[in-house]
Amino acid sequence: MMIAPSILNANNIDLKNDIENAVEAGISRFHIDIMDGHFVPNLSFGPQLIKDFKREFPMTNAEIHLMSNAPDKLVPSFVEAGADLIELHYEAMDQPKLYYWLDYLASNGVDTALAISPDTSVDVIKQYLPLLKQVLVMTVKPGFGGQSFIPESIDRIKAVREIVGPDFDIEVDGGINDQTIKLAKDAGANIFVVGSYLYENGNISGQVHKLEKIIK
Ligand code: DX5
Ligand code: ZN
Repeated sequence: MMIAPSILNANNIDLKNDIENAVEAGISRFHIDIMDGHFVPNLSFGPQLIKDFKREFPMTNAEIHLMSNAPDKLVPSFVEAGADLIELHYEAMDQPKLYYWLDYLASNGVDTALAISPDTSVDVIKQYLPLLKQVLVMTVKPGFGGQSFIPESIDRIKAVREIVGPDFDIEVDGGINDQTIKLAKDAGANIFVVGSYLYENGNISGQVHKLEKIIK
């Protein structure tokens, strides 16, 4: 079980402080949302943030959630910036491109995940499994932090767990809080992206510990 904070809704002017607080609370992986204003109607961070993150926190993993249909431009830059894991969206490119970039990541020593949006059939993951480290099941429509968990996600997580078997990482992303984390865990998820819930009351380590207790 692992909590991966999303810094999308952190105070962007004070990111280092928020990241430090989470690292001190035992966090070993951050989920960094990359939005291109095209695949999703929002903009977020670029490769420079990853470079700076890895320089400041070399022992902490940077997981890149790439919400963009311009992988040709972006994937090599994020690899070069030091990404540890890159999550590509099934909906963002055609099959040959997806195979190409999954293979590219593997040959550059970067872990891979396939992300599926709420309206995408979970069956699409089957053909890519041998190339993947994990599957990312979106539990909100990608694009913004602070949305509500979509209840139908529970059955989708269960279906993905059936497909991948017991020893494969299933990450969930969107609307995770002290209620939904338990539902997602019981359905079969083992990695939990948490954004706005962590920044709700200014006590990041307190929020991390609260969630950890629930999923223990
Ligand atoms: C949404 C992003 C999420 C988001 C999570 O497109 O992929 O990672 O920042 O934030 P919360 O936990 O607030 O839904
Ligand atoms: Zn995300």
